[in-house]
Amino acid sequence: MIWLIGNRGMLGADVEERLRSRSIPYAASDVEVDITDRAALSSFAAGRGFTRIINCSAYTAVDRAEDEPDRAYAVNADGVRNIAHVAADEGALLVHVSTDYVFDGEKNGAYAEDDPTGPIGAYGRSKLEGERHIASILDKHFILRTAWLYGAHGGNFVSTMLRLFGERGEVRVVADQWGSPTFSRDLAAAIVAVAEGAPQRYGIYHYTNEGRANWFEFAREIYALGRRYGIVKRDVTIVPISTAEYPTRARRPRYSYLSKEKIQRELGIACRDWRDALEDFIREMAG
Ligand SMILES: NC(=O)c1ccc[n+]([C@@H]2O[C@H](COP(=O)([O-])OP(=O)(O)OC[C@H]3O[C@@H](n4cnc5c(N)ncnc54)[C@H](OP(=O)(O)O)[C@@H]3O)[C@@H](O)[C@H]2O)c1
Repeated sequence: MIWLIGNRGMLGADVEERLRSRSIPYAASDVEVDITDRAALSSFAAGRGFTRIINCSAYTAVDRAEDEPDRAYAVNADGVRNIAHVAADEGALLVHVSTDYVFDGEKNGAYAEDDPTGPIGAYGRSKLEGERHIASILDKHFILRTAWLYGAHGGNFVSTMLRLFGERGEVRVVADQWGSPTFSRDLAAAIVAVAEGAPQRYGIYHYTNEGRANWFEFAREIYALGRRYGIVKRDVTIVPISTAEYPTRARRPRYSYLSKEKIQRELGIACRDWRDALEDFIREMAG
């Protein structure tokens, strides 16, 4: 029996769909079972015989975390520690989701799982702390670090761009931050595969869609596909700008390309190209 925590988030909703479509028995919770409350977690788990826990819950407000780091830590570090303890109590495997923001983004090359971490913001620091709690409490764990997620069940870069393309003749997008756009449904499939059938090769893994882009290139692809599938109905000029021209409360890693070599080699999980995944997403949106 699987316990899916965070089923109303963008990723969690896709994981739930995946579990349901594969007829895998599960129970799900979100904010009504607050992960910062260990007793609440334990009492939800009591008597249900969970053998696997998938955690998609998190504090994900990257900019706000700079102003309320205690809240980010309460969820992403202390809350995750609670989940790890409950997983240990239940003898359950934990599949947890983390982020490229544990790195500083200054490496000239793909980040491997054992590269030194160095988060540059409160959100990344809180997520890294969560990873460390899991590793110290529980052997049976998989931590999947991902990046640049978009999907059908939450606000994200793709939905923002499509809205802006409907509102403006010109959209300015940062062109000096690099990463891998990742369809949350693809990650959800990987998570369920790991929870269902992975060998006991526990530890940290990177999973994103394959290939890299900057936000400007990502926006251009969204626009091209939006036009092709009739979602974007007018001409829009997309202008590349620098991070300095689009200041945000939290700094973002400049270069966050994650190597997927380990997850492919150790767990046999393939990562398709980000453009193919984005095309599926936009085609489905168009109906
Ligand atoms: N989105 C990205 O680009 C991205 C990139 C890299 C890694 N990640 C990681 O991927 C995972 C999923 O992200 P996402 O974008 O799907 O996040 P999301 O949409 O913000 O979903 C997180 C869910 O957790 C819930 N939650 C928050 N605090 C909770 C608490 N104390 N107890 C129980 N549930 C709580 C949220 O409820 P409320 O909405 O009501 O707070 C929400 O339903 C996270 O671990 C995130 O760090 C995301």
